This record gives sequence, C-alpha cells and structure tokens, in this order.
Amino acid sequence: MNKKWWEKSIVYQIYPKSFYDSDNDGIGDLKGIISKLDYLKDLGIDVIWLSPVYKSPMADNGYDVSDYYDIEKQFGSMEDMNALIEEGKKRNIKIIMDLVINHTSDEHAWFIESKASKDSPKRDYYIWRDPKEDGSQPNNWESIFGGSAWKYDEVSNQYYLHVFAEKQPDLNWENPKVRKDLYQMINYWLDKGIGGFRVDAITYIKKGNDFKDLKPNGKEKLVHVNGACLNQEGIEEFLAELKENTFAKYDILTVAEAPGVPKEKLSRYAGKDGFFDLLFEFEHVDLDINADGKWYKPRKWTILDFKSAIKKSQEVYNEIGFGALYLENHDQPRSLNKFIKEEDISLVSAKMLAVTYFFLKGIPFIYQGQEIGMTNVKYESIEDYDDIASIGQYKDALSEGYSKEEALAALHRRSRDNARTPMQWDNSENAGFTKGKPWLKVNPNYKDINVEANLKNENSLLNFYKNLIRLRKFSKYTDVIVYGKYIKFLEEHGDVFGYIREYNGKQILILSNFTDKNIQLKLDYNVREVIISNYENIDLNNKNIELKAYEAVVLELV
Ligand code: GLC
Repeated sequence: MNKKWWEKSIVYQIYPKSFYDSDNDGIGDLKGIISKLDYLKDLGIDVIWLSPVYKSPMADNGYDVSDYYDIEKQFGSMEDMNALIEEGKKRNIKIIMDLVINHTSDEHAWFIESKASKDSPKRDYYIWRDPKEDGSQPNNWESIFGGSAWKYDEVSNQYYLHVFAEKQPDLNWENPKVRKDLYQMINYWLDKGIGGFRVDAITYIKKGNDFKDLKPNGKEKLVHVNGACLNQEGIEEFLAELKENTFAKYDILTVAEAPGVPKEKLSRYAGKDGFFDLLFEFEHVDLDINADGKWYKPRKWTILDFKSAIKKSQEVYNEIGFGALYLENHDQPRSLNKFIKEEDISLVSAKMLAVTYFFLKGIPFIYQGQEIGMTNVKYESIEDYDDIASIGQYKDALSEGYSKEEALAALHRRSRDNARTPMQWDNSENAGFTKGKPWLKVNPNYKDINVEANLKNENSLLNFYKNLIRLRKFSKYTDVIVYGKYIKFLEEHGDVFGYIREYNGKQILILSNFTDKNIQLKLDYNVREVIISNYENIDLNNKNIELKAYEAVVLELV
C-alpha cells in the first residue's frame, strides 16, 4: 500500500484574525503566526490549516475573497506568506490553505465586471436570474446566513444568487471559464509549495431544483437553500474535474468541508480514489441543530446520538482508510460547552473529551485554543458580536417573537464567535494576544485559561494533548492508533463512550464516562496495561472496572 506523508499527522487549525497580533493593531497576522511556530512545533503538530488570508473586505472574515492572488493587508503581505511557508518547512510543518471557491466577495474583480452589465464577458461567472412577474425574488430559497438567497441589482433588473451572505455571490460552476480560472489559481498556490487545501463549502457548487421554488415547510415563506444547493445531482462531475486538473498532480493533503454527503457516497468523496483525501462530516457536531438551521430552536440530543454519528462515519473510515477527526472549528462553539454540562467543565472532563476523539480512526484536528481548554464567551450585548451568521440569527429570532435574552442565550450557546475570541496566551491584558484593542473582546476567563499557565503545569490539558500526540506518532501504539480498525463497543450504553481499535492482533480499548457518576463495567477482556488516563489511579480489578466521574482510560487488551 502506498503510504501518504500525512497519515500520522496532527493538524492544527489557525483562525488568523484571532491567533496572535504582531503589530498591535488588534488583529492577528501572519508574522504573529510565524512567531508562534515554535509553540506549535513543541505541541507536536505537523500541519497547519490556515483559515483564509487572501485579500478580502472581511464581511465573513476572509471567506469572502476579493483577490485569490493577494494577501489581505490586515494579515500581512505575500512576503509574509512565503516566509510562513518557509519557516514552516524548517520545522517540518506544512501549511494548508483554505480554498473558498463556491463564491467570491462581491468586491472581486470578476463580480464587479459581471455586475457592470448584462453583456459583460464575465456576466456568466455568477448566477443571475430575472425577477418573478411581480418583481420579487426568482424563488423562495433562504440563504444560510438568513434572508432571501437572492440580491436585487437595479442596473440590470436581475437578481444574483448568494447561498451565504449578500457579499458572497456564488460562482457559476456551469461556466467552463470559471472552472478553468479557479484551477489555474489553485495550481498557482500548489506550485508555491503549500501542503494542500481545506476546501470550503464545496458541496454547494452545483445548484439544482431547476431554480424553482422549494416546497414551503410550515408557515415560513422562505425555505433553506440546502434543499436546492447542497449535494445536487451532477456535482460529482465537477468534483472529478477539479481533482484531475489540480490536486491529483501534487502530493498534498486535501480535506473537504462536506456537509450532507450521504454515508453510502462517502467513499466516492474521500479516500484513495475519492475526490478528496479527507472529509469533514457534521452529524456529530450539529446534533443540537434542526434542519432549518435556526440556533434559537435547539434540538435535544443524547450521548447515544453522538456515539451513533461517530460510529457511522468510523465504519466508513474502516473502508476508506482515514477521516477528519474534530470537535471544534471556527464555525462551532467550543466543544467543552457543547459536550459537557456547564457545571462539570473541568480539567478532567476536558481530558476525557480529548481522549474520546483522539484515538478514533482518522487524522485529528485541533482548533486553536482547544488544547488549553478555551470555552464559550458570554457577551452581554449584540453589539459585541461580529459574526455575520450570529447577527442574522439574532435578527431572525427577534422577528420570530423571541426576546432579546432568548436570542442572546442562543448566541451564547451557538455563536461562531465563541471560537473566534482571541487566543489566550497569558494572563496579561487582552490575554497577551495584542497590545492594541482586540477586534473581538477576549474571553474574561483568560486569567485562568491561557497558554503560559498550561505550559507551567505538568498536569495541564496542553501537556495532556502533547502526550496524546506522542502516543499517536511515536509509540509502540502508533500503528494501532493510526491504522487500526475501529470496532464498536458498548454501543447501547447511554453514558459511556467505548470503542476498540485493532491492528495486527494488537487491541486497545478506549472508555470515556460522559457523566459525573461512577460507573461499573464488566469487561470481557483481560487488560495488559493502561496506556493513558485522566485519573492517576485506575480502579481495575480483573475484568471489572469502575469509571469515575468523567474518567477516560485507554487500555491495551491481552
Ligand atoms: C464555510 C466556512 C464558514 C464560512 C462559509 C462561507 O462553512 O467554514 O466560516 O462562513 O463556509 O464561506
């Protein structure tokens, strides 16, 4: 079997705006990242996924690109980007960039030209449609950030489609010239020597339903765009062509943000013969969200639902080899708040969560701050929020009759800004992130939760993550952790997350107690040794084990 360079890798995601500010303008930047590379090297990571740093008006913090060939001034220059790639190389850290090609910014030259007139050669680079007879939007699709997915343009009396924000017009992938221009740009970056791409929102590039109205659900006039733009028939031809013209020619890592891919199709999307190497799936992180995507109407879920989501994808990864393992990213709230009751968030429960996902089959992704246990922020006012999705949800909630308090509570739980507060480096003002005024308020808990404190404490979460990484990469368990098969265990248990990994006769068992109660378990196995745990003493007596509150333990079986 052909081994890939990334098989034993650990990926660390950086949200540049919030990582480290080197010039004290309150915004993180590329030089700031370079200055923290040694910290990341010491943590043990191999790959950095950099959220977008291309030129952008920052309506969606860089996910609205106005020039793919330039770097956003707030973040630095192309020289800084080249330096980051080089400095990374010196430390054996590859940089993978975010590839945002479902849409551009409305300030991209292509869109400006497209909008200029109906006859513009670039008109068909985007998706324009006539109004309905009464002048209203071409159809009832609702954008992901709220409101109609169509924006009216007075000059041409047409509407353009935006699956995300108004300032993110969707590219017209049906136009071969668009695809060719995108491939050229992708290869430009790959030729520079980056390690690959995280591919943004890629399952939206094909639009379907013949641009007709979606069936209304309930009394709402608009219907979530997913029904017409997510994973539509015909998308696979685009993805195959994309790979052939770009990724396939390089020895890189590609990981696609791919909500909505049916499980039976996953092997077509990822793995050796897939369109990408890895996929980000969403079921396990979006258990608390309904199909209409409204955060203020939370969905109830249990640990059994979480287990079942993980199991389904692990079984696919058994077939295709690898998947992307993650609990957090820049679009999700902090995992501690999502998976642990607020009153039980602690060093022990944070370590338990880390163990739970770190031994699964796949490549672990760590989101900045996760390694020190950063948590959600509770801003008192909507004024403190920046995230375009949060502001949309807040407005929606109010218009649906929710109170301000209820709308804010939904943001405390779900806002993407929870993950975007500045990285907490130390206990000095602004958490050591900047000497200026941070673009987003720091989480006041930085005095206790910060990198410096974690580095000093041998027992800290950060040091625990280092141990997990070492076990995965450089131990006698490396092969079983990286290549082992996932085997379900205690599938029906409502409180304990368990699974086995097996490789060449070696078996390890992972057990995590998701409650604050002691739980007795009888194992059908003999234990050879305890590989790691978040408690000092393990209560193991023959085949009986007692898991203490939020205990996680990894055992080698005989
Ligand atoms: C992806 C990104 C998210 C962004 C959206 C539109 O979901 O992760 O941050 O807002 O795409 O580009």
